[in-house]
Amino acid sequence: MGIGEARAATRIKTVADARRLAHRRLPGPVWDYIEGGAGAETTLRANINAYELVHFLPRVGAVTGDSPDLSTSVLGTPVSMPLLLSPVGFTRMMDPAGDLAAVGAAGAAGTLATLSSMSGHTITEVAAAATGPAWFQLYFLGGRAGAEQLVDRAQQAGYRALVVTLDTPMPGNRERDSRHGLSPPLRLDRRTITKMAPRVLPHPRWLVDAARDRFSLDLINTTSLELGGKTMTSLEALLHWLAYPAKWEDFGWLREQWDGPILAKGVLTADDARRAIDVGADGVVVSNHGGRQLDSVDATIAALARVVGAVDGRVEVYLDGGVRRGADVVKAVALGAKAAMVGRAWAYGLAAAGRPGIDRVLRLLREDIDRTMRLVGATNIAEIDRSLVRTPPEWGP
Ligand SMILES: Cc1cc2nc3c(=O)[nH]c(=O)nc-3n(C[C@H](O)[C@H](O)[C@H](O)COP(=O)(O)O)c2cc1C
Repeated sequence: MGIGEARAATRIKTVADARRLAHRRLPGPVWDYIEGGAGAETTLRANINAYELVHFLPRVGAVTGDSPDLSTSVLGTPVSMPLLLSPVGFTRMMDPAGDLAAVGAAGAAGTLATLSSMSGHTITEVAAAATGPAWFQLYFLGGRAGAEQLVDRAQQAGYRALVVTLDTPMPGNRERDSRHGLSPPLRLDRRTITKMAPRVLPHPRWLVDAARDRFSLDLINTTSLELGGKTMTSLEALLHWLAYPAKWEDFGWLREQWDGPILAKGVLTADDARRAIDVGADGVVVSNHGGRQLDSVDATIAALARVVGAVDGRVEVYLDGGVRRGADVVKAVALGAKAAMVGRAWAYGLAAAGRPGIDRVLRLLREDIDRTMRLVGATNIAEIDRSLVRTPPEWGP
């Protein structure tokens, strides 16, 4: 962790500041990879803007000056606040510390991070750097044979839950990436970076860091999977993934492979929420992949109530998409989420200032959850309920 990073982190006063600093540090193609959404980016914008439609109905005069209790539990694991880190791929190209920084920061904040299958450090390396519990997000890299090996590694390394992403039967239409000449499966290696030289050279700090890290931009989990006694190439593993997206039918098989809770990520409708319960999921993540997959779906905060209604307390419900403030977290919890999750917010922190940048973002979000709870009149998480918010009638009861 450099002194420069610690200094940069002190300039982050809001998630929007982290976003601005990240934009400045990163070469255009890397920035656009993080920031962009699919298609016209309608859902990307909606995820953020929909929080403005949730209004608080505060209980004034209800709390003492004492700090509220932010602690809760997620699938049996105690956490210090109802805020978790969503899986984000390619983090080593945002900062060499990548997911090592994410699990470190999450643990220090008393919460947990979800490691993406598309990580730059191995499942085992990340577990070794973790100072708290972590979840593992599964893509079927290398098809079912590859998935079996990833799940086994995650189990051996002690990840607590498996998060199965279902909204990615193929990559979404990321127009920003294609404008940069990047097409799925996205690969940033020395050759592509050289081709992008004119857009990379104006960002010397990023370039020096990436060079010191020997341009370790491989999707490391794609480089060691075996099929029929032979190690697949990275490209083979990715092609098998594209040919074998995760489906509901896989949950039965996964249950045999994985000894722990399984979450279905990408649920947006009541039908799919019920489907998740039918196949034995222990939780659902209401998510539209941060507006990066199918464009023109509902903002997640708008979809939350119908999923919570369909689930009816049988499994835990989580939400990600557009969370940029602690107040957004309180809104999601009021509408029935066990916890909210952030993707870009922590990625901005990482890209802006490495590990101290994520520490800072998590601290700011915690302070805002704390402040919002006091102002709405909630002394603990259980007191954050539906009576504290008003939402547009079409979102459901
Ligand atoms: C740069 C980036 C990479 C992502 N990579 C993954 C991934 O590998 N697996 C996955 O399930 N979701 C991935 N997501 C989606 C996030 O897990 C999450 O659903 C989304 O970021 C939430 O929206 P937010 O960014 O507005 O917080 C990614 C999101 C971003 C921004």
